[in-house]
Amino acid sequence: MSTQQVIPPACTSPAQNVIDVRGMSYTAAQPLVYAAMTRLAIGQHVQVLADTDPGAMMRAVAFQLRNAISWRFETDGKLWQIDVLPRAEAEAKDVVDLLTWDHYRLDRQFADVLAAANENRIVDAETIFNDYWIGLRRHVHLENNVLGQTLGGGEEKGPLADMLFEHDSIITQSRLVAETLLEKDYGMLPAICAVLSGSLAKHENREETTLFPIWQTTDNSDRGRAAEFLVRAKELLAGAEDQQVDKMFP
Ligand SMILES: [Fe+2]
Ligand SMILES: [Fe+2]
Repeated sequence: MSTQQVIPPACTSPAQNVIDVRGMSYTAAQPLVYAAMTRLAIGQHVQVLADTDPGAMMRAVAFQLRNAISWRFETDGKLWQIDVLPRAEAEAKDVVDLLTWDHYRLDRQFADVLAAANENRIVDAETIFNDYWIGLRRHVHLENNVLGQTLGGGEEKGPLADMLFEHDSIITQSRLVAETLLEKDYGMLPAICAVLSGSLAKHENREETTLFPIWQTTDNSDRGRAAEFLVRAKELLAGAEDQQVDKMFP
């Protein structure tokens, strides 16, 4: 029985992550698989190795994740090899779809940072925060500098202007979390995380209800461009433009 739970920050090539739950009971294996899947980003794939039919476990994990994962397996009757990837990567029909999925992922990651901070699990909080921080900056770069410039929404006044304003605030608040962790000022951490968690949820909801419908209409008006955006967005969220991301949001 061994667990190689190596889920590094999303990188440009599919990560080789293997979770071996052979020999484990369902109650031991299921939370492990779930924990790994909560950190699955675009561009990352996870392989689970099991020695019993994993159907029930994978359905339970997928249900817990509001079906955010897509999985299939091969078996010779003794070993089950289950390949898991973000559903958005398999099925996103456009960039708006992809961003909506990424909201859900960022939200959940931040809730995990908050939970870890509340329970004083500092190492966990730091690890999950680092995943969240690069993921957030990629997401904001995609929205600010790739999609916002083309798909509109009112740069001076309108949902796009609101988005740009809120992004500045969320980046600033997230930086505060990073600094708090760096300075080991852990007493402050739960309060700062709680405020940011609320801002993040409000922002995403506003984006999904006001800006995304506009973007979706514009995006769908040019199918060639929409297809190019989707490919670029997947690559960007997997880390392909991290040099620019670092420049924009150091
Ligand atoms: Fe946003
Ligand atoms: Fe967003």
